[in-house]
Amino acid sequence: MDRIRLRGGRPLEGSISIGGAKNAALPLMAASLLTGDTLTLSNVPHLADIATMAHLLQQHGVDVSMDGGNGTPEGRTIHLNAARIESTLAPYDIVRKMRASVLVLGPLLARFGEAEVSLPGGCAIGTRPVDLHIMGLKALGAEINVENGYIKAKAPKGLKGGVVRFPMVSVGATENLLMAATLAEGTTVLENAAREPEITDLAYCLVAMGAMIDGIGSEHLTIHGKKSLHGAQHRIVPDRIETGTFAAAVAICGGKVELLGTRLNLIESVVDKLREAGCDVEETARGISIGRNGSRLKGVDFLTQPYPGFPTDMQAQVMAAMSVAEGASMITESIFENRFMHVPEMARMGANIVVHGASALVRGVPKLTGAPVMATDLRASVSLVLAGLAAEGETVVNRVYHLDRGYERLEEKLAACGAQIERLKD
Ligand code: EPZ
Repeated sequence: MDRIRLRGGRPLEGSISIGGAKNAALPLMAASLLTGDTLTLSNVPHLADIATMAHLLQQHGVDVSMDGGNGTPEGRTIHLNAARIESTLAPYDIVRKMRASVLVLGPLLARFGEAEVSLPGGCAIGTRPVDLHIMGLKALGAEINVENGYIKAKAPKGLKGGVVRFPMVSVGATENLLMAATLAEGTTVLENAAREPEITDLAYCLVAMGAMIDGIGSEHLTIHGKKSLHGAQHRIVPDRIETGTFAAAVAICGGKVELLGTRLNLIESVVDKLREAGCDVEETARGISIGRNGSRLKGVDFLTQPYPGFPTDMQAQVMAAMSVAEGASMITESIFENRFMHVPEMARMGANIVVHGASALVRGVPKLTGAPVMATDLRASVSLVLAGLAAEGETVVNRVYHLDRGYERLEEKLAACGAQIERLKD
């Protein structure tokens, strides 16, 4: 298994190109199941999770072809054609690897009247049930039973529009319902829908495929069902979490970096906190510039919340920055119940962090010290890379496959800005 070795202490200078959003690409790929025509997605990041989704779609019978640069700033273009679906079963072996596989449920059910999708089960950051996906699809008339670890869903006469009021905000459930409702008979209203930029991106792609959706970008989506959708071309929104991760790296290391091909309005809540902590962040013609010169970071408090609040997917990375800030920082995780798995590893590097329930009190220390570390999920893993950039001496981050699920060429991008970082191949 590959590892990442790094030495901290150098400021970052230069530019980094930001790829298309993984968490937009995955539902967009699933949306290809809604039509027999070709859906072409550009700015697709080159990541392990994208390959897993492509594999899942292929086993349903989707024809998947890719072109464009492996590793170029422009990303790849992927063509998906679901004209000949052979199976509506999403097997355990694939779903257990990637929870986003459950996003095929809504599209398969809406277009073919049936789907059988393995229950994803728990994961490192929480129990993560899919009850809201099931509740929503039932409200559109689906008959759903959970048996032998599978969600078995049927709608022999097709889905019917209905009102779904989500009791809590769920990104995945909103995406599944939004996709399913595009082919339901009549009008569907989704209340308390998630508003993440990835959902807005999905909605615009569905509109390009012929769907009728009102309220895009709001928590109240109205979908007027169509008999069929058609092919489209869509460019994937920039990855706001990759953007925020590199911004946090600059906050930790100091220096100045321009993040290319991204937008400040995707991560305003993170930018607000980084500014409060003492960073300079500006929009540029090509993206965002972030810098910190001279003074030490200051501790700031934050609470993770659904968009437009502070993203849970940035909690660990900003905690790494707070671990070396002046003063204390209170960080509260309100989305997932087990998302502080990076804390004991950061503590091994000298961080002073106490967890009380859903909150972590970080008392900034002047410096961290390098250590061998590992983490159990993607964002926790990258937060340890960032902590390593702040640490004196050598840090080795194990289980790099977590990073490869969500960051394309992370070590190359950081090394190009002066970080001492390399991948050790095993
Ligand atoms: C998406 O997961 C992202 N994944 C996650 O990113 C992200 O952390 C999360 O949204 C929150 O922003 C993708 O987009 C592929 P949710 P999702 O449904 O859709 C509870 C990363 O690192 N819930 O919004 O699974 C759930 O347990 C990943 O890139 C239910 O109770 O998240 C959680 O506490 C990790 N029942 C909360 O809602 C349900 O049926 C929010 O989950 C569904 C969710």
